[in-house]
Amino acid sequence: MQTVSPIEKDSPSLRIFFGDVRKMSANEVANGEVALIMTSPPYYNAPFDYPGLFADYEEYLDLLRTFAAQSKRVLGKGRICAIVTDDMLVRQEKRGRGKKYPIVADTTKIFVEEGFQYRDRITWVKPTGYTRISRRSGVVLQHPYPMYFYTDNIQESILLFQNGTFDYEQLKSLRPEVLEKSRIDTSRLNSENWNMSVWNITNVLPKSGRVEEGVAAFPEEIPRRLIKLFTLSGETVFDPFLGSGTTLKVASELGRKGIGYEMDLELKKVIRKKLALSRKRIGPSHLMEEKAGARKLCKTLQTNIRRQRSVTMGDKRKSFRASISPL
Ligand SMILES: C[S@@+](CC[C@H](N)C(=O)[O-])C[C@H]1O[C@@H](n2cnc3c(N)ncnc32)[C@H](O)[C@@H]1O
Repeated sequence: MQTVSPIEKDSPSLRIFFGDVRKMSANEVANGEVALIMTSPPYYNAPFDYPGLFADYEEYLDLLRTFAAQSKRVLGKGRICAIVTDDMLVRQEKRGRGKKYPIVADTTKIFVEEGFQYRDRITWVKPTGYTRISRRSGVVLQHPYPMYFYTDNIQESILLFQNGTFDYEQLKSLRPEVLEKSRIDTSRLNSENWNMSVWNITNVLPKSGRVEEGVAAFPEEIPRRLIKLFTLSGETVFDPFLGSGTTLKVASELGRKGIGYEMDLELKKVIRKKLALSRKRIGPSHLMEEKAGARKLCKTLQTNIRRQRSVTMGDKRKSFRASISPL
């Protein structure tokens, strides 16, 4: 078995830190204590979620490099880091066209360079009626000639990286009840096609008033599958970009411990609500702490999004040419 750190032995079942994960230390998450990282980093400067969060793409890649190094440090030997991410189309300047950034390829390169094995890539497909896609395919309908074709994106990647070789002998020395509790329901796995490299899962629908409003949350079904497939009952799942707290909600429901890191202090209320954590319940089994780099982010981003939307609408009204922009 991997060395169990003192933090892990007596730690609360939920630990949530508000701070910049780049500044995380072993006092918060110990070396090798995590069985699965389940996360989704910010989507670069995604127009609907994070416009202007990063000064440029290099700053974003730096965040990914630190995230990879931190992941290597906290993950147990042979364990998995699962990352939900996607290439991102970002408008360059006011009336400019979008530029597509190869985030999936760059994330893969960075994790492999950090010493992870590239284990798998699952394609998460959303329903075709997905409401937040930009209708780039409309360009070829307006101009049915070669070179006007762009796709409407209804997919994301779930990247799986492995921290060295897993020792399956560990499973043989487990208490039988722990192994039994961790058994995977293979009839469900087969009937829902978990074994396939394409997962059809409905996204979190952008209804107003939902608890995750303003957060690019993934659906619970993604962490539910991956936590069952890659952790034993009682082990620890870590989400370094916690957002609304989806990973920890599911981890808790499945009898796993959870650790989350989130920079945005404005999400404290959202996380409490999603995890049904009243102030009273922050006790020995739950820990919430503010660390270096925590800041208020949500409202600033919402203002940027509104500004970006009004620029887009303004452009469309002013100029027919804007309507053939693929962004
Ligand atoms: C894509 S969202 C995660 C959504 C989450 N999976 C959910 O289901 O709600 C990414 C999150 O990372 C946070 N974030 C961005 N930079 C960060 C950093 N350096 N350290 C910690 N959190 C960060 C953002 O505030 C955002 O909430």
